[in-house]
Amino acid sequence: MKRNLAKIAERGRAYILVLAAFAALCGCHTRASDSLTPVRMTGDAGAGDVAERQAQAGRAVAPEEYGPRGASYFPSFVLTNELGEQKAFFDLIAGKVVLVNFVYTTCGDSCPLETARLRKVADRLGARLGKDVHFVSISVDPENDTPATLAAYKERFRLPANWHFWVGKPGQAEEIQKKLGVYREAADQKKDHSLDMAVGNQATGQWLKRSHLENSEVMVNLLDRLNPRQPQRAQIVGYEQAPSRIGDVDGAERLYVSRCMDCHSIGRGDGIGPDLKDVTSRRPRAWLKRWIKEPDAMLKEHDPIAMGMYEKYMQVAMPNTKLEDADVELLIDFIDRESKSLAELGRPRIQR
Ligand code: HEC
Repeated sequence: MKRNLAKIAERGRAYILVLAAFAALCGCHTRASDSLTPVRMTGDAGAGDVAERQAQAGRAVAPEEYGPRGASYFPSFVLTNELGEQKAFFDLIAGKVVLVNFVYTTCGDSCPLETARLRKVADRLGARLGKDVHFVSISVDPENDTPATLAAYKERFRLPANWHFWVGKPGQAEEIQKKLGVYREAADQKKDHSLDMAVGNQATGQWLKRSHLENSEVMVNLLDRLNPRQPQRAQIVGYEQAPSRIGDVDGAERLYVSRCMDCHSIGRGDGIGPDLKDVTSRRPRAWLKRWIKEPDAMLKEHDPIAMGMYEKYMQVAMPNTKLEDADVELLIDFIDRESKSLAELGRPRIQR
């Protein structure tokens, strides 16, 4: 992350677009970057889903028969969710298209960004969430996370009821990560936990690894394509079709879209965080620069402006998105430009 994101965005964009589109289209072993690597855990993608198997067999199909990665492959320990309900891990994924990710509720940097991004995916899925696609979020902090802290986390981010958060015993989240191919060796398994999530169809055994920064539209399309019954799967959305804007010469818009937009808008009202329209006239530039660079440090120091907002915005801490100084400057200029264009044109340049 110690790189100039804007420069990288510019240089790597064409390359990533081509490879990513290819990866999204064929789901094969294309290596564009870690975040774009599909991990096929078995080659048995055409095995059909549980309903089809049942129809073929003319009988109920036992979980062990749910494809090559079945009940005997996945851990069976019992997890508890934010409502206090208990279920074996395998039952959460058995025969389903799922997205499994890992969080902890006191995480100040990447988890809130990931949660906000997935909230966009959930919005796009609408009523299909909990039916065609299931989100399973698992805490990597069983020492501190309880049904109550998980419920409060869901409330803070205003997440839909049918997206559940689960917690088990120490070491169990890591076991699950290992089985899903998203485990990362780290000195502190809580703070440095893997931000990769697994998306897959348990019934067909097709699983992919995705970054927490995955574009939300591409993610919805991917989830659809994992579901053989989903009619929309014929409609292919690769990165090249995800709404993007031309004219993002300095890369600021790309930074804003990938790091900020899940929680903020410019002129379309509050989201998880405040509307950023005219924030450049509301706050001194020096304050903005420091806030965007290290909001976590400012909250720790109880900066009065930051604390006032923190209380107002349901105590969701703005995450440290680990930006370089140059990127912070680009972002502030971008927010300023967008606010002015809103005043001049009566609409923001960004339309989403
Ligand atoms: C996970 C959600 C989230 C993300 C991502 C996020 N913010 Fe925030 N932001 C907040 C929240 C919440 C607040 C209110 C303060 C608090 O509670 O920490 C805030 C406050 C702000 C403020 C102060 C607004 C004001 O009225 O003074 C600015 C400026 C800001 N964010 C800019 C950014 C920028 C730029 C990015 C991208 C690099 C970003 N934020 C990413 C949640 C987020």
